[in-house]
Amino acid sequence: MDSLLIRPMVEPDLLAYKALRDGMLAAHPEAFTSDAETEIQRDLASYRSRLTGGANGTTLFTLVALDGGRLVGALTCEREPRRKVQHTAHLVGMMVAASHRGRGLGRALLAEALDRLQATPGLAQVTLSVTAGNRAAIGLYESQGFERYGRLPDAIRLPDGRRLDKDLMVRRLGPAPRA
Ligand SMILES: CC(C)(COP(=O)(O)OP(=O)(O)OC[C@H]1O[C@@H](n2cnc3c(N)ncnc32)[C@H](O)[C@@H]1OP(=O)(O)O)[C@@H](O)C(=O)NCCC(=O)NCCS
Repeated sequence: MDSLLIRPMVEPDLLAYKALRDGMLAAHPEAFTSDAETEIQRDLASYRSRLTGGANGTTLFTLVALDGGRLVGALTCEREPRRKVQHTAHLVGMMVAASHRGRGLGRALLAEALDRLQATPGLAQVTLSVTAGNRAAIGLYESQGFERYGRLPDAIRLPDGRRLDKDLMVRRLGPAPRA
């Protein structure tokens, strides 16, 4: 992956971003809150909400990982504008194409996001939710200092009848934890 690049998503990336996301939602229904059937209907313009400043200022950034120009990973960071909760950011939409897993790309996306959040004035912590039992994602988040602070039972209901819990995780923003 010599040609790997991680950078904020810009408008010309939206088609490739939607294609990656639609594929991930279909392949991993248990891992995401959005469902593939609904999301595939969305028009491209609606994904502008994932660009910096989108969703009425809620989106801080979406990072994309490109391998030789092909979009193979993404991660979005949000922050509510309301004053009393402005110190908390949220990570959503972590995804790495199946062809590129297990090579450190998820960790690189997360590390870059954390670096950017550390450098953002006024932020004290970052949260995320992850389906209980998603070992790859939980392992990744724990390796970067996230800790579970709770679990939401019956968080996701799948068409096949499964009811899945979500682990709620938080990481304080400050000096990186020692390896
Ligand atoms: C979760 C995901 C983003 C990880 O991306 P990745 O690029 O494969 O992860 P990395 O190669 O950077 O691995 C980083 C760490 O994550 C953990 N990890 C990754 N894959 C793992 C696996 N299959 N089993 C256990 N731990 C795993 C390990 O701690 C690993 O560190 P190590 O290599 O030093 O052991 C990827 O598997 C994915 O897109 N999954 C489907 C979508 C998804 O579940 N998204 C998360 C929604 S909350």
